[in-house]
Amino acid sequence: MINEMKFAQYVFGSKHCNVYPGEKFENLGRLVDKSSAILLIDANVYNLHRETFSDWKTIIIKPGEDSKQYSTVTDIIRQLIRYEADRTSWLIGIGGGVVTDITGFVASIYMRGVRFGFLPTTLLGIVDAAIGGKNGINVNLYKNLIGTINQPEFILVDHDFLKTLPQEEWINGMAEVIKHACIRDRAMFDLLEQHSLDAICGSDEGLLRDLIARNIDIKMSIVQKDEREAGERKLLNFGHTLGHAIEIFSKLPHGHAVGIGMALAADLSVKHAGLSEDEYSRIIDVLIKYKLPITTSLTMDEVFELIRLDKKRRGNVIDLVLLKSIGSAAIHTVELEELKTVLD
Ligand SMILES: NC(=O)c1ccc[n+]([C@@H]2O[C@H](COP(=O)([O-])OP(=O)(O)OC[C@H]3O[C@@H](n4cnc5c(N)ncnc54)[C@H](O)[C@@H]3O)[C@@H](O)[C@H]2O)c1
Repeated sequence: MINEMKFAQYVFGSKHCNVYPGEKFENLGRLVDKSSAILLIDANVYNLHRETFSDWKTIIIKPGEDSKQYSTVTDIIRQLIRYEADRTSWLIGIGGGVVTDITGFVASIYMRGVRFGFLPTTLLGIVDAAIGGKNGINVNLYKNLIGTINQPEFILVDHDFLKTLPQEEWINGMAEVIKHACIRDRAMFDLLEQHSLDAICGSDEGLLRDLIARNIDIKMSIVQKDEREAGERKLLNFGHTLGHAIEIFSKLPHGHAVGIGMALAADLSVKHAGLSEDEYSRIIDVLIKYKLPITTSLTMDEVFELIRLDKKRRGNVIDLVLLKSIGSAAIHTVELEELKTVLD
């Protein structure tokens, strides 16, 4: 029965993760036994798709980044005990990155580890957060301070959930899609230039399917080679070192901050990595096309101070991911003074 569901298998050492793209939630019962599965669901997703989950054991998680903390974990564990979950149980995370990060973490520590799978319901979750096995929670202002690297057994992508996703969340996800195109997939970058946010969000199901499959494959292939981020996985940080610092000070949504981070990294790429002015302009145009900001009114002194504290800094230099051309990225060492000039 399971063989009828199309999947791509990604191998990680002794484990593998099966990705079921364009599947239906109804087929989840073919992958896990309903009686042994507990669904951890984002409350917004639960409220919008309530009937879908009848007959399943559920734990509802409050939406938002604030849920990624230890008290949520303890609360979930109490509910697992109430459900008499044991080492044969499955935990299935259904929601955006907040829920998949929490689910992967709880599944990794409950009874020293139980099996888990994801049904990501945001674009960012599908193309980024659910992929790669990093999961965890925040401690105070320290993002993802506690966590594990542990791959889910499967990821099932049901496009029907995306029908209720607000536009703001599509834009956040597009930042990661643009990032993947910039570092790895020139042809996908051309595709993004030719299409629009509206086509991807709603009118062109084939285009969305293609983009999702390509993005999952890009991240999976990078992570397969470097699960613990010793080398190649660092390329996924394109726009993120600067973006994270901007996110903290501006309280902008993650994708928006990363958009600005990528614009700055593209600027530095012209100066340090040989990116042509023409390709720089194309990157800026694509960011604007997908409604991502490229500048901020923040005072850059604060942002610079935070970058100075970044763990990627060594003395007065910092390692940043820069582009040689669209689709080709590498790590470059940049002087902090030079970075300050670009930020100013
Ligand atoms: N583990 C990783 O490798 C990794 C990578 C990137 C991001 N992350 C984490 O992911 C989180 C961000 O993920 P996110 O952007 O998906 O945010 P999110 O999980 O907060 O979801 C965004 C919003 O969309 C709502 N939502 C989700 N699915 C919906 C749907 N189908 N219809 C309507 N509303 C829906 C949620 O309730 C929430 O309000 C952050 O905590 C970040 O640290 C993890």
